[in-house]
Amino acid sequence: MSNTVKVSFCANNLKATQHLAAELAQLVTQGMILLLNGDLGSGKTTFMQAFGRSLGIDTTITSPTFTLIDEYNEGRLPLYHIDLYRLEPSQTSGLHLEEYWRGVDFPVGIVAIEWASRLLKKPNEYLEINLSTPKSNDQSRNIELTAIGSAYILALQQLQAKIPRITHQYSQ
Ligand SMILES: Nc1ncnc2c1ncn2[C@@H]1O[C@H](COP(=O)(O)OP(=O)(O)OP(=O)(O)O)[C@@H](O)[C@H]1O
Ligand SMILES: [Mg+2]
Repeated sequence: MSNTVKVSFCANNLKATQHLAAELAQLVTQGMILLLNGDLGSGKTTFMQAFGRSLGIDTTITSPTFTLIDEYNEGRLPLYHIDLYRLEPSQTSGLHLEEYWRGVDFPVGIVAIEWASRLLKKPNEYLEINLSTPKSNDQSRNIELTAIGSAYILALQQLQAKIPRITHQYSQ
């Protein structure tokens, strides 16, 4: 059986992106890692805001561009929200991010990394979330999810069952 599953969604407006993120937050389990990629303004932080709210975090999630790592402990699971935009790939290993998913010094939660393409070494298993804006419509987003590893594949299949097709489902 393949170890990788890829599913693409088209979120035709902001609400659709938020809905996808909120549904995903209901499906993730302790220790999961989300690798978010996409250009500036593609919606990575917006996705995480809706994800966090659905996880039960009342604090408004902001972009950790300057703080690098923000921790939220009030939801169903701890959320570690990381943004690597300001780092060179060679600097990312110094953050020892693997301690977050190994649970050595932190309670195991969800680790979500914006600009994860900056990582020199990816974790063994993860869900990658790639957002892009089609040229024809700046309010819509192509959201490609790639699951590596059986737990992530299961979550992605559950998400797909909940949201088989989100294009055209939402009005502004
Ligand atoms: N369908 C959509 N999905 C997500 N965001 C959308 C959508 N339509 C419009 N937007 C807007 O696009 C912007 C996305 O900004 P956001 O900060 O989330 O991007 P980002 O990928 O985190 O950028 P950065 O790389 O700078 O961190 C927000 O202003 C959001 O309201
Ligand atoms: Mg961001």
